[in-house]
Amino acid sequence: MSHHPNDSDILEQRKADHLALCGEGSVESKEAKTLLGDVRLLHVSLPELSVDEIEMSTTFAGKKLQAPLMITGMTGGTPRAHEINHILASVAESQGLAFGVGSQRAMLRDRSVAPTFQVRDVAPTAVICGNIGAIQAAECSNQELNDIIGIIDADILCVHLNPAQELIQANGDRDFRGALNAIQRMCSELSVPIMVKETGCGLGLQTLSLLKNAGVTHVDVSGVGGTTWVGVETLRSFGITHDIGQVLWDWGIPTAASILYAKRFDFQIVGSGGIRSGLDMARAIALGAKIVGAALPFLRAAMIGGSRRVEMLVNRYIETLRAVMLLTGSKTLGDLQKTSRVIGPELQNWANVTI
Ligand code: FNR
Repeated sequence: MSHHPNDSDILEQRKADHLALCGEGSVESKEAKTLLGDVRLLHVSLPELSVDEIEMSTTFAGKKLQAPLMITGMTGGTPRAHEINHILASVAESQGLAFGVGSQRAMLRDRSVAPTFQVRDVAPTAVICGNIGAIQAAECSNQELNDIIGIIDADILCVHLNPAQELIQANGDRDFRGALNAIQRMCSELSVPIMVKETGCGLGLQTLSLLKNAGVTHVDVSGVGGTTWVGVETLRSFGITHDIGQVLWDWGIPTAASILYAKRFDFQIVGSGGIRSGLDMARAIALGAKIVGAALPFLRAAMIGGSRRVEMLVNRYIETLRAVMLLTGSKTLGDLQKTSRVIGPELQNWANVTI
């Protein structure tokens, strides 16, 4: 007798594939760059600062962060995901960072997987971000949406946009109508603020303008230059979809450009997508990000070495940021946002676009 997998089985298998591919595979952009390398911060030889005076705490979603860093949403729904979420959330707690869970879609279908997203036991005071796709949100009642927030005690709900990924995913969404309406509804009717995030293709001017008019206050740009979800789905696909995925592997807006675009609309910005060092963090903040986010490096650290390895990675990012702050004469993150910089030609070209 053959076993016919139901929707939950397929979703669970897809999530397991994603973790396995992201743990080991080549899932980052090939030629596309974040263009953060086009942001050169001017060196200061007389900073007149002590390292101890450098202050990198900030606020986000109504709480204090010890450093401007968020581990962005990745996983949930399986036993391995449970373990990873708890490792990452415990480090977010001990280091004073923000942490996001992966898409809570699985939880809507099957309440028994809710504990894989519930991390308050290890992160009682950290900023916790919920996660749902805009297309799924469109099908949810306000009650269901407030439930996914309440069950994990989230401080903010991330609403992800991922049309490029869906197009390359077998059985992915093909109809993207209604997402904007759902976002508008959520802005006015949910118990916590929402943050609209991309998943590696960046937010462009047209999208940002629509989001601003819908009442959105927070965005996570998740630009090109880091993990590519077109890439991840290409590795799982066959035939023509595989071919399309190969061509569109690097599709999207570079992280640095997307931060500049979001700044034009005065959003609270999480700069993410290919943030791989404290220098990337400093450059993203200089462009206008309030905090920065990263996903893949933290996943790999958690898979390889658990919370100790994640903590080491966080320290490397933060101590590098501290060094760059000193070397730009920036005592605070506000000073870093104003520090002198040279913008390279490629990023300048992206910056010249208007709608
Ligand atoms: C993700 N990302 C993601 N985003 C989201 O909004 N919901 C999700 O469920 C997931 N799932 C997920 C799984 C894994 C394994 C990874 C690596 C990533 C996207 C993530 O939050 C981030 O926006 C991008 O990965 C870009 O950042 P990095 O990986 O280049 O630092």
